Amino acid sequence: MAVGKLLLISLAVGLTAYFFYDTETITPGMVRGKKVLVTGSSTGIGEQIAYKFSEIGAHVMLTARRAERLQEVAKRCLQLGASSVHYVVSDMGNLTSAQHVAQEAIDKLGGLDYLVLNHVGGSGSFGYFQGDMKDVLSSITVNYLSYIQLTSTALKALEKSQGSIVIMSSMSGRIGAPFTTNYCAAKFALEGFYSSLRREFSLSKKNVSVTVAVLGYIDTENAVKKVGDKITMTASSKEDCAEEVVKSAVLRRPELFYPYWGIKPFVLFRDLAPTLMGNILDKFYVLENIQ
Ligand SMILES: NC(=O)c1ccc[n+]([C@@H]2O[C@H](COP(=O)([O-])OP(=O)(O)OC[C@H]3O[C@@H](n4cnc5c(N)ncnc54)[C@H](OP(=O)(O)O)[C@@H]3O)[C@@H](O)[C@H]2O)c1
Repeated sequence: MAVGKLLLISLAVGLTAYFFYDTETITPGMVRGKKVLVTGSSTGIGEQIAYKFSEIGAHVMLTARRAERLQEVAKRCLQLGASSVHYVVSDMGNLTSAQHVAQEAIDKLGGLDYLVLNHVGGSGSFGYFQGDMKDVLSSITVNYLSYIQLTSTALKALEKSQGSIVIMSSMSGRIGAPFTTNYCAAKFALEGFYSSLRREFSLSKKNVSVTVAVLGYIDTENAVKKVGDKITMTASSKEDCAEEVVKSAVLRRPELFYPYWGIKPFVLFRDLAPTLMGNILDKFYVLENIQ
C-alpha cells in the first residue's frame, strides 16, 4: 500500500516536472557570441553539440585526438553559423594536455562561458572485469581526472563569466551496470564531484551552473559498434540528444535525463526496489555475445 502510494506520488512529480520543463525554450539571442569549449567533439554527441551551439551563433573551441576529423567538424560549424571556430588536438589521457586545452580555449576565445565535458575513452572493451589495472587507470584518467583538470583550469574564467559546466554522464553513473566497471566507476565519480561542486557554488553565491546529462543508449557510431550486438535496447538519436543537452545547459538546469522515460523511472526506483530494477535491466543483455 505504502509502495503503491509512493509510486503514484513519484509518477505525479515526474509528469509535472516533465511537462513544466518541456514548455521552456531557448533563443539564439541567449547564446550568440558566447564562448564554448566542447571536448570529444570530433564525432558522436560532442560533434552534434558543437553543431547546435554553432547554429545559434556561439564561438566554438573543439578538441579531440584526431586532427582531420576536427578540421571537418570545424568547417561544418562555420557553415552552420558559428561566430568563430578553433580546434586543439589533445589526448585526455595526459593531464598536462587537458590543462593546455582549457587554457588554449580561454586564450583563443578571450574567456569561457560554457565548458562542455563530453569526451569518453580508455575504458577497455564491453565485457566481464578481468582485473586489468591498466584499463582501470586509463578510464579513471580519461573519463574522470581530465574532467576535473579541465574544470580546475577553467574555474576562474567561468566564475568571471558566470558561466556553465556541462557533464556528460550516463544511467551507468546512477545505477551500477555490468560489463562496464571502469566506465561506471568514472561516471559515478563525476556525479559525486559535480553535485558537490554545484552545492559549493550555491553556498558561496557563485553564479556558475552545473548541468549533469544522464543519458541512455544513444546511436553514436562508437556506441553502436561497441554494444550493438550485446544489448537489446533501442538507441535514441544523437542529434536530438545534443539539442536537449544544449537546451538544458542554456537554461542552466541541474540535470537532464535523456531519453526521459527510458531513464527517470529506473533512477527513481533504484533505492526503492533495487533487486527488481536489477532483474529488469539484466534482461537487456545478450549474454552469449559478451565475454
Ligand atoms: N552513446 C551512448 O550510448 C552514451 C550513453 C550514455 C552516456 N554517453 C556519454 O556521452 C558522451 C559522448 O558519447 P559518444 O557516444 O558521443 O562518444 P564517442 O562517439 O565515442 O566520441 C568520443 C569522443 O571522445 C574523444 N576521445 C576519445 N578518447 C579520447 C582521449 N583519450 N583524449 C581526447 N579525446 C578522446 C573522441 O575523439 P578522438 O577519437 O578523435 O580522440 C570522440 O570525439 C560520453 O561522455 C559518454 O559517456 C554516451
